[in-house]
Amino acid sequence: MVVGAQWGDEGKGKIVDLLAQEADVVCRYQGGPNAGHTIIFGGETHKIRQIPTGILSGKVAVLGAGCVVDPEVVVAELDAYGERGTFCLSGNAHLIMPWHVAIDQASERRLGKLQIGTTRRGIGPAYADKASRLGIRVQDLLDPKILRQKIEVALAEKNLWLERVYETEPFDLETVAGQYEGYAQRLRPYVADTSLYVDTALREGKRVLFEGAQATLLDLDHGTYPFVTSSNPVAASAATGVGIGPRRIDHVVGVSKAYVTRVGEGPFPSEIAGSEQERMRELGGEYGTVTGRERRCGWLDLVALRYAVRVNGIDQLALTKLDVLSHFAELPVCVRYRTRDGSETHDFPAHQSDFHAAEPVYELLEGWNEPLDTCSSVAELPDAARSYVEFVERELEVEVTLVGTGAERSSVLTRA
Ligand code: IMP
Ligand code: MG
Repeated sequence: MVVGAQWGDEGKGKIVDLLAQEADVVCRYQGGPNAGHTIIFGGETHKIRQIPTGILSGKVAVLGAGCVVDPEVVVAELDAYGERGTFCLSGNAHLIMPWHVAIDQASERRLGKLQIGTTRRGIGPAYADKASRLGIRVQDLLDPKILRQKIEVALAEKNLWLERVYETEPFDLETVAGQYEGYAQRLRPYVADTSLYVDTALREGKRVLFEGAQATLLDLDHGTYPFVTSSNPVAASAATGVGIGPRRIDHVVGVSKAYVTRVGEGPFPSEIAGSEQERMRELGGEYGTVTGRERRCGWLDLVALRYAVRVNGIDQLALTKLDVLSHFAELPVCVRYRTRDGSETHDFPAHQSDFHAAEPVYELLEGWNEPLDTCSSVAELPDAARSYVEFVERELEVEVTLVGTGAERSSVLTRA
């Protein structure tokens, strides 16, 4: 399985796409269209938000029970890519409804300076309704009568909230019911028992790849709460999100940039100060896939990455966008945090206030000037770049098995 080891946008899409070439089935287990996976091959760029990227390579793409699904986005992606592969959608996944999007937007507006900086796609409100047992699920699309009834019950409450609490427009039952019945007609053929499907595929010896969305530090339980998403991106969640046992997962590949980015609010110890941050943003093209927002940029943070290795059980690391670091004279790497009491630690702080106050302790590594696009393996990297990779491996005690040196599928170096 492939999991984001930072705050998202590590280039998981690209690594999943590469590994998908060897897989039969590619599954998503959490999140919704807040993800934005960019895949570049054969000179074409594809941005995909909801359907697992394996569909682009002709694989079986499974959206598991742990996902929240915006049917409008799925229908658009099926129109664009459906012919390329096979799509299966869990009947237990929850639907994102128009009021979820409206509430996400209104509550962020209301929070003002305290906002989370969500993607405003309705993710949080959809998961909140799931936990409150008020959600509408994909399987409710199978019966038009049930669907209309559930929308009616939900709207009776949601419209009160929208009008009286958030002071925005209510939704009209007939309009929403008509719109969702339209999606239902498109999606019914794809609804399946995805737990059974994946179990059967594994029993038949097929190769199954799990595609994490968002990332470790955005995990609802293990991330930098409250500046997190509303699902569990961590590796163990693949088992619950798809409905298989935890011992079926053989390998956990963590994906990390060679530096760090974060969109949205929240503490970020190794964030770069001043114009160097802009330089990094320009070099790395660090603007959000879903929202177009500027991503905040920082130096590689090995304290946070060590934490990601722990909570996911990462046994191999893919280090992406190493090429972006070419032409910096020196590369600070955060190796420890200095805490409020003046001591230093290798371990990620367990409490929010300690993380807020954490100061990065850097080790300065040597930069390199050579471009990396002529290298065809890790062994061929310029000395300083190879040392950078080896430093990460030593500090984390995890092998870096893949190194990204450019946007194309082909620009990923393996060890040999
Ligand atoms: P939400 O997932 O839209 O509720 O947003 C919650 C937080 O997660 C915000 O900081 C978002 O910017 C962040 N987030 C959600 N999805 C992604 C992603 O795919 N990449 C990076 N950040 C994300
Ligand atoms: Mg993204």
